Amino acid sequence: MRILLLGASGYVGGVLWRELSQRHTVVGTCSARPVPGLVTLDLRDRAALRGLLATGFDLVVHAAGLVDLSAAEQQPELASELNAGSVVALREAVRGSGTRILLLSTDNVFDGTADQYTETDTRNPVNVYGHTKREAEDALLGEDALLGEDGHLIVRIPLVYGRSPFADRFMARFASPVTRAQVDVVCAPLYLPSLAPALEQLWDRTGLLHLGGAEVMTRYALMSRIVDHLGLPTEVVAVRNDEAFPVPRRPARLVLRSARHDLLGPDLDTALADLAGSGPADRP
Ligand SMILES: NC(=O)c1ccc[n+]([C@@H]2O[C@H](COP(=O)([O-])OP(=O)(O)OC[C@H]3O[C@@H](n4cnc5c(N)ncnc54)[C@H](OP(=O)(O)O)[C@@H]3O)[C@@H](O)[C@H]2O)c1
Repeated sequence: MRILLLGASGYVGGVLWRELSQRHTVVGTCSARPVPGLVTLDLRDRAALRGLLATGFDLVVHAAGLVDLSAAEQQPELASELNAGSVVALREAVRGSGTRILLLSTDNVFDGTADQYTETDTRNPVNVYGHTKREAEDALLGEDALLGEDGHLIVRIPLVYGRSPFADRFMARFASPVTRAQVDVVCAPLYLPSLAPALEQLWDRTGLLHLGGAEVMTRYALMSRIVDHLGLPTEVVAVRNDEAFPVPRRPARLVLRSARHDLLGPDLDTALADLAGSGPADRP
């Protein structure tokens, strides 16, 4: 399969690039942070995007955009342009070509008031990032998300954890002497290396899919278990969501479950064993 991976220099994209390149022909893109082997592309440069697509792809995996919650809150127009505007342009550019789009979306399209969320649950984002991802989903699949008539696919994923080769944002937080983590924010996090094989199992489907992690836990429990298991030199300090960070609202409970398939990421023990066996030097 010939794949265009938008955002290959990012946290999620770096691992997708490393894994998918082993089994497919992957052209990966970067933007502000040049990475050898990746093509530099600004999502706002529509002519460059069209030019790249004209070289022919079976699938575009869209893992690029403005993901940081605080940055999105501070720059809502930019977040909308990158996260949603790019999808409008992409969908238009592939129209009639047979190229399918797989958009990575987020559990932040939900408000966090339900026990868990499946594909048919109603979205109600509470932060700018979530709003722009809802816009992006609508731009790709419109009202008929479950039908996915154009052959496109959205995969919503939760908080992702693990190492990444280029932008190791998740592990970087443990470099500080103190790691603050919420005791009242619940998630079902997904181990990053499990994402590429799961996407390969799912990407023949169309429409909207959820992909969750197996275990439900607080962010404090997740960070503590990782720090303990790896013996990292940081103290995990419990904070409450409303005092945690000068950031926008983070939904209190986000558990993604699927009504369309049985796949889940590995449990935490399995993921931690793998994490301990991999190192920062695991580069493509
Ligand atoms: N991380 C998570 O826990 C998580 C959870 C749920 C969903 N997701 C979804 O997964 C996807 C990837 O997230 P991430 O955490 O990997 O984000 P990230 O580390 O911030 O990576 C963002 C990527 O987008 C690229 N990018 C930024 N501005 C761009 C522009 N103007 N033109 C072209 N590319 C641009 C970046 O390139 P440069 O760095 O080279 O500028 C980078 O490759 C997103 O769709 C996000 O919604 C992530």
